[in-house]
Amino acid sequence: MTGFTFAVQAPSNIAFIKYWGKKESQIPMNPSVSLTLTHCKTINQFKVIPGNGTLNFTFHEESNSTAFSIKIQKLFALIKTEYPELNSFDFIVRSENTFPHSSGIASSASGMASFVYGIFHVLQQMKNVNRTLLNQKISYYSRLGSGSACRSIEGPFVQWGQMEGFKDSSNDFGVISENHPSLNNLCDSILIVSKNPKKISSSEGHRLMQQNPYSPIRYERAKNKAIDMLDFLKSGDFSKIGEMIEQEALELHALMLTGDKPYFLMEPNSLHLIQAIVEFRKNTLIPVYFTLDAGPNLHLLYPAQVKSEVLNWIDQLKPKNLFLDVIHDEAGLGASLL
Ligand code: PMV
Repeated sequence: MTGFTFAVQAPSNIAFIKYWGKKESQIPMNPSVSLTLTHCKTINQFKVIPGNGTLNFTFHEESNSTAFSIKIQKLFALIKTEYPELNSFDFIVRSENTFPHSSGIASSASGMASFVYGIFHVLQQMKNVNRTLLNQKISYYSRLGSGSACRSIEGPFVQWGQMEGFKDSSNDFGVISENHPSLNNLCDSILIVSKNPKKISSSEGHRLMQQNPYSPIRYERAKNKAIDMLDFLKSGDFSKIGEMIEQEALELHALMLTGDKPYFLMEPNSLHLIQAIVEFRKNTLIPVYFTLDAGPNLHLLYPAQVKSEVLNWIDQLKPKNLFLDVIHDEAGLGASLL
């Protein structure tokens, strides 16, 4: 094979049932279920030339020394141990996110997934890998880079984590969750409340769960909620989905408040917005529900049919200065070649 170039993309995802707490090698303590996004994504331009297995990785033209690049290098070394044929090439990878820099949107999921997707595109040129197995492998290695990244390969809904009664479920990789067609166009408007870096990284958050007195109850509850969520996704019962994602977001943040080293990642405006959303829904009966990641930004989930009403409402909220920015996203199908 001589040198060649190509580009890949992988989106971010938002968990409906959260992964919070892990064992060694990013094995989750409970199953999680997420919505794959479309517009918040990482694009990686790959240049592959004959060489010795080196990787020159830059993110938004920052050099190889950033924490993320170091993680990518480690992951690349790990992939090469299973696929030594990669040592016959040098890789030059230019990585960019479509969402604004430091917008508070976690980029590790899309970043890892997009990188691994690209590496496996190269491997596919050398080996004929079955499509299902290929996605599992890509998800497997993405997980080793950043747990939630394993849910960014496919869509619109992905579950990750062993679940009794679900024979395809796995702690090692994400698998597609069946969903009602009415959920294929689900919208997610992300209200950016703060652009500051997180006070507590998600790795630290997962670690603190080891000493949290409520962890055993949490893991049991999350397991049951994941099973219920899969049912709701199948039947397309959006009000049940909405109630559960709100409850789940608040439970995630409650766990942060209850350990020996309590911390909180919401901002006062996150709470103001939560109140405003609940009020808006009560007054208008428009089905819009919130969820949060491990941070202060709110994801508003709603069916495409009520998009104009929700966008109008967001516009009306703007003068109150409760959020800095808004990103409109929607359900997507995962990583792909560009
Ligand atoms: O994948 P990590 O290690 O960044 O952890 C993600 C944790 C949450 O975003 C809070 C929940 C989730 O399942 O995505």
